Amino acid sequence: MSRARLVVVISGAGSNMLAIDDACRSGALQADVVGVIRNRADAAGLTKANERGIPSTLITPAADESRQIFDERLAEAIRAAKADWVVLAGYMRILSPQFVQAFTGRLLNIHPSLLPAHKGLHTHRRAIEAHDAQHGATVHFVTAELDGGPRILRGVLTVRPEDTEDTLRHRVQRIEHAIYPEALELIARGRLRQTERGAELDGQPLVEPLERRFEF
Ligand code: GRF
Repeated sequence: MSRARLVVVISGAGSNMLAIDDACRSGALQADVVGVIRNRADAAGLTKANERGIPSTLITPAADESRQIFDERLAEAIRAAKADWVVLAGYMRILSPQFVQAFTGRLLNIHPSLLPAHKGLHTHRRAIEAHDAQHGATVHFVTAELDGGPRILRGVLTVRPEDTEDTLRHRVQRIEHAIYPEALELIARGRLRQTERGAELDGQPLVEPLERRFEF
């Protein structure tokens, strides 16, 4: 089976991108990161991608550029890289419905909460404020509903009384680095796919996301 071609889209440090690339290089993930696209000139992930020889593209919004036009340029870069899968990893822009529609079924995201809880921003702070006993991260297919697409795999940890926003962020990122490559491997192997109703694993509807528990 040929290896899946991944384009990773980032805004920040790119630690998820690197974890995914590590998994590709170690053989844990039957795929290759064939490109990194970033929307911020200062995205630290760029230097790291360059060091690894991964082609990277910077697409920044022009003054007064509409979301739709910006996303058309993003789509062009993804098509130019001949991506099979579009992997959002800390990408901080909202996508236009046209973009989501164009890549539906091939578009994935990781969100730092146990979805459907805490969609949107500041998830770690909100988990603490809500006195959640558990917190974590979720890999999901992307639909037009923000952080609302079919959930694939979630990694769960126990919130400790002494946890702060920062300690949670740190532990949840370790979870992200484990579960995103795992979810992508299921996809690269053709075991998991998005359907009209949600997601399907090995031909069976995935009613609840797969779950991994982490003890750290
Ligand atoms: C991750 O924690 C992701 O869940 C959130 O943004 C962060 C990106 O981190 N949406 P990195 O750029 O992969 O290091």
